[in-house]
Amino acid sequence: MTEKHPALDLLKPAEESESPRFQIEVRSSASTRERDLEELGNCLRASPPWIPAKFFYDARGSELFEAITELPEYYQTRTEELLLLGVADQVAARSEATELLELGSGAARKTRTLLDAMSRSGLLQRYVPIDVDPVVTRRVAAELLAEYPALEIHAIITDILAPLVALPQGHHRLVIFLGGTIGNLNDDACERFLDGIGEVINTGDHFLLGVDRIKSKARLEAAYNDSAGITADFNLNILEVVNAFAHGDFDQNGFEHVSIYNEAKHRIEMWLRARSPQRVALADLDLELSFETGDSILTEISTKYDKGLIQAKLDHAGFELEDWHTDEESLFGLALARRR
Ligand SMILES: C[S@@+](CC[C@H](N)C(=O)[O-])C[C@H]1O[C@@H](n2cnc3c(N)ncnc32)[C@H](O)[C@@H]1O
Repeated sequence: MTEKHPALDLLKPAEESESPRFQIEVRSSASTRERDLEELGNCLRASPPWIPAKFFYDARGSELFEAITELPEYYQTRTEELLLLGVADQVAARSEATELLELGSGAARKTRTLLDAMSRSGLLQRYVPIDVDPVVTRRVAAELLAEYPALEIHAIITDILAPLVALPQGHHRLVIFLGGTIGNLNDDACERFLDGIGEVINTGDHFLLGVDRIKSKARLEAAYNDSAGITADFNLNILEVVNAFAHGDFDQNGFEHVSIYNEAKHRIEMWLRARSPQRVALADLDLELSFETGDSILTEISTKYDKGLIQAKLDHAGFELEDWHTDEESLFGLALARRR
């Protein structure tokens, strides 16, 4: 096993003895909380105010996201899963990776497709899930340890948008970032993020990226305005996470879920719109906010891509696109890239 970075505040070291094949680093400390508070304060003071997407994912947010992936309107997960089933052996063979490192791993439902292919190739040794939610990450790690009896798991709970320092070393790595999550990053954040990945993977290592493709406004808006109202619950839950994090008093009932496709920016925008005038206090931010009816908070962008757009971004970050896979309806894309 690799050594941990000395600067990390490991909150639950005792649990590393759960299995000799499992360790988890919770990279949370007073300084990361200060940084997150400052970031949240800056975002809420901006015009329009916004909330970083990582605040969606407390235990309930992760559960709601899993429910979203099962919705009939939400084609993304099942389409990406089918694509992965078709290409996993090819990806495993091309990458020759012994380690699968997953960013924003969440429930890791589709990850098994790749773990299976890497097992079949006889190379798989270690899985490194990195996510902000410790609850879902621990649950999934326990499941995977049982399903893959020889697999080592080194989980890291951290913000994937902060520099990815002190990653475990010693393996030939395949980095994956699935679910179209890259679409949640604006242009600057996306560039910084891809540059950061370039720093943590070695020349010749591979990167597999799932992107949701540009398509009709009707299809996209249906996917983010499901008839069962789960996406609305997921969106509103972010206020509870912010309340818990910053001792705030947002009232969920005072806001409503809005999702629209911004065609000019080829992105879905999720907002929370005030149903009536709202006053909100966030004690830990020393911040009071007021909203008139109709004032809105931007909670998520989900940018949609085509092959050329994503290839340009990868190229800029020092990756060469090796393969581009898409489904018959061109709904979703999988880009396999190699560090130049
Ligand atoms: C859209 S979900 C995708 C989950 C899974 N990869 C999939 O494809 O279904 C995004 C995942 O990334 C995690 N996440 C979001 N922002 C994050 C951040 N800044 N740092 C670490 N994890 C983050 C969430 O907890 C969640 O598990």
